[in-house]
Amino acid sequence: MQVVRLASETDFTGWREAARSLRAHGVKPEDAFWTVDGAGDLFGEAAPAPQPDAAPFTVPREFMELADTVILHRSDERFALLYRLLWRLQREPNLLRIASDADVALARSFAKQVSQAAHKMKAFVRFRQVHDEDGEIYVAWFEPAHRVTEMTAPFFARRFANMRFSILTPDLCAHWDTKQLAFTPGADPADAPREDALEDYWKTYYASIFNPARLKTAQMQKEMPKRYWRNLPEARLIPELIARAEAQTEAMVTQAPSEPSRRIVRAAQRASRDAPYDGAAPTTLEEVWAGVQACRRCDLWRCGTQGVAGEGPAKARLMFVGEQPGDQEDLAGKPFVGPAGQVLDKALAEAGVPRGETFVTNAVKHFKHELRGKRRIHKNPDAGEISACRWWLDNERRIVRPRVIVALGGSASLSVFGKTMAVSKFRQQAIQLPDQAQGVVTYHPSYLLRVPDAEAKAKGYAMFVEDLRFAWGLASG
Ligand code: URA
Repeated sequence: MQVVRLASETDFTGWREAARSLRAHGVKPEDAFWTVDGAGDLFGEAAPAPQPDAAPFTVPREFMELADTVILHRSDERFALLYRLLWRLQREPNLLRIASDADVALARSFAKQVSQAAHKMKAFVRFRQVHDEDGEIYVAWFEPAHRVTEMTAPFFARRFANMRFSILTPDLCAHWDTKQLAFTPGADPADAPREDALEDYWKTYYASIFNPARLKTAQMQKEMPKRYWRNLPEARLIPELIARAEAQTEAMVTQAPSEPSRRIVRAAQRASRDAPYDGAAPTTLEEVWAGVQACRRCDLWRCGTQGVAGEGPAKARLMFVGEQPGDQEDLAGKPFVGPAGQVLDKALAEAGVPRGETFVTNAVKHFKHELRGKRRIHKNPDAGEISACRWWLDNERRIVRPRVIVALGGSASLSVFGKTMAVSKFRQQAIQLPDQAQGVVTYHPSYLLRVPDAEAKAKGYAMFVEDLRFAWGLASG
């Protein structure tokens, strides 16, 4: 038995070197034992001499990317699982394509859980303001489900570039001094200050993003598990917010996001070519979700809290495509849950279309915005961004295979049809798309929110409802 001692729980370089060496020595997966012990040598036993005829071999980049994520999982099995996969890849080069294989499925589910933990960390870390000899510093305590502190620290550094902060976790602490990130060993919860001036700020912010119309207590607990609540000052507001929910729903419908500008639409038309993509195509919606989180096809991944992939049944007959997630969608990780989502929900209900049976997504999967004070103001996606993100929409279309795709507004029709389609001219028409689906165009709900004249607004909304009914009829026929 070869004992491999890695320097830390997330020692990917050590794992890679050890795996390469074990492989070169022909050590079978069942003969390797992996453990973590910073003090020891790499091998508990002297490694056997390399076999002279050991063939050099390479593994797909996809595997190394998967391994880089899986290693952050808390399961003790992860090192051995990865070595087993690496070993098998020599004889089974297409192994990673076999989703039903037990090792592949386990590794993919580990990777997904790690991505989810990173996503939760980005959404639920709450800083508290304290002072040290250099002035203001913000400190947060967080207990991530997996070891994702190092992975998510660059996100916080970009997001809070001008703010000195420390994120303390039991595994590792990340420190940002506005110039560089540094890491120290895990901390004790007692190191994190609990009450301070930021408390009120978080409460106000949370109250403003709370979406009363989609109130689902069970879902809320799933998205914001109770284990995170004790570190969240805003969690104390939940009972009061629930009580106010109904009245707020009415008021939300009057808020107005914006439509894509003509300039963007023209530019996007010019950019008809997809950006190159070197990753394998996803085969499930879960893979789309994970891929969107890791996407670097354009720079928008830097902007938001997370990527927002589409949501709905994998076999939905009807697909809605919007422009891009807004502020609330970015925080919730779900499409159309903010003001535009309220209009869509209301119109769907009036048109007799069950949203739960439809697939709702966007042309662009990240929230493009600029900061004005503390507010995040929507910015239109540009040509390259719409074009780069079409990879994800095309994959969603290929996996879901809806009968009908409804493009909501200009950016969506550009992405779905490859050109803008004037709603006034094309609404209520079934337009054949190359992938067998029928396309339908209608207004973007945000546009309806922005129409200033009450009569025109009501007329536009009535047409919107008619268009949804039309699309549902087509999809059900
Ligand atoms: N607007 C969109 O286009 N999509 C969303 O998900 C939310 C607002």
